[in-house]
Amino acid sequence: MGKSFSRDVVIVGGCGHVGLPLGLVLADAGMSVTLYDLDANAVDRVRAGKMPFLERDADEMLERLIATDLLDATIDPAAVSEAEHVVLVVGTPVDEHLNPDPKFVRIAIEGLLDQLRDGQHVILRSTVYPRVTAMVEKLLAAAGRDVDVSFCPERIAEGRALEELRSLPQIVSARTERAVKRADTLFAKIAPSIIHLDVEEAELAKLFANTWRYIQFAAANQLFMIANDFGLDFARIRDALKQDYPRLAGMPGPGLAAGPCLLKDTMQLAAFNNNNFTLGHASMMINEGLPLYMVSKLEQEYDLSEMTVGILGMSFKAESDDTRSSLSYKLKRLLRFRAARVLCTDPYAHTDVELSPLAEVLAESDLLVIATPHKLYADLDVDTPVVDVWNLLGNGERV
Ligand SMILES: NC(=O)c1ccc[n+]([C@@H]2O[C@H](COP(=O)([O-])OP(=O)(O)OC[C@H]3O[C@@H](n4cnc5c(N)ncnc54)[C@H](O)[C@@H]3O)[C@@H](O)[C@H]2O)c1
Repeated sequence: MGKSFSRDVVIVGGCGHVGLPLGLVLADAGMSVTLYDLDANAVDRVRAGKMPFLERDADEMLERLIATDLLDATIDPAAVSEAEHVVLVVGTPVDEHLNPDPKFVRIAIEGLLDQLRDGQHVILRSTVYPRVTAMVEKLLAAAGRDVDVSFCPERIAEGRALEELRSLPQIVSARTERAVKRADTLFAKIAPSIIHLDVEEAELAKLFANTWRYIQFAAANQLFMIANDFGLDFARIRDALKQDYPRLAGMPGPGLAAGPCLLKDTMQLAAFNNNNFTLGHASMMINEGLPLYMVSKLEQEYDLSEMTVGILGMSFKAESDDTRSSLSYKLKRLLRFRAARVLCTDPYAHTDVELSPLAEVLAESDLLVIATPHKLYADLDVDTPVVDVWNLLGNGERV
């Protein structure tokens, strides 16, 4: 640690889905870490040793580390001055036109100019629109701050963050050797290996990673719809294709491809390429269209206007409490317009106040839709028809 700093790391956005796991892993590796966040509720929870969201193995780790000097959480921006490394992981959502809005990073940096000190190392870790790092460098230089800047993107999957932070290579990029070295030294404490890219390469690499996954899910969803329209079970075809055939081993199954990252980052890339991204836009239409497809198929088979439909699972993926950008809510809106009644349930989505207990949904629904493949639903034993594009129940991928 630089001798004039009393803490090793401050994480701006430190109580969020990316910031908090990173803080835990760094503190567990012996670094002193302050989690700085605007969300006072999340900071209070963290200070009380309670995770604000589900993350595998994090409860015990937080409880243990928050009781030591290694980890602290605060809403006081003064904390930013105290640390050698300032990691920025604020959210970077797209706007209502699906355009990237780099203002969130800019506002965060501008808000911290009074706190930033010469000699610090600013690490951008949010997924950013290309050239946002350059914008930050310019902003800091214009304000006369003599700080190193690096862009070191996060590639974890929510829920597996603690394991992945310690098992995935870390991409490091910066324009000066000194900044690269400082980022290397920090991430060498937790990551098994470091991969170097130029800054703009790294910005694109992160967008490419999420976009690639989004396109793969779209490809699976489109093939699923073709098989389904032909009256066939996509799971049987997929299983047969993958059997002893390594080239297709990674072929995903169908499902509601959603969440706070994949669509958003595909749209960031589309905007960066002047909206010339046929494959990305086609993927959006397929993935965002799946709930519409499901409902139109159900309308062909049932008179929904007479029925109560139960939606099982509201979070964007299994065993998660994160409902951000979950397509379960699109499904809910579509069904509300058509069905006599819609009931929703989820074992984890504690922020949703419109949920019903599972037993009630099972007892009162004429039709059930598994929207999120929480393991719990795999044991469903009901006479009610169940729509299960995930094939969680093992009866095939059909709607
Ligand atoms: N969620 C993921 O799985 C994931 C994975 C890789 C990368 N990312 C990227 O990481 C970034 C953060 O995503 P997230 O899911 O952790 O978001 P999040 O909303 O869970 O966390 C962001 C946190 O930043 C805080 N915050 C916002 N502005 C702030 C400011 N000016 N000062 C201090 N705190 C501030 C918020 O209160 C929140 O707690 C995004 O760019 C996202 O694309 C997310």
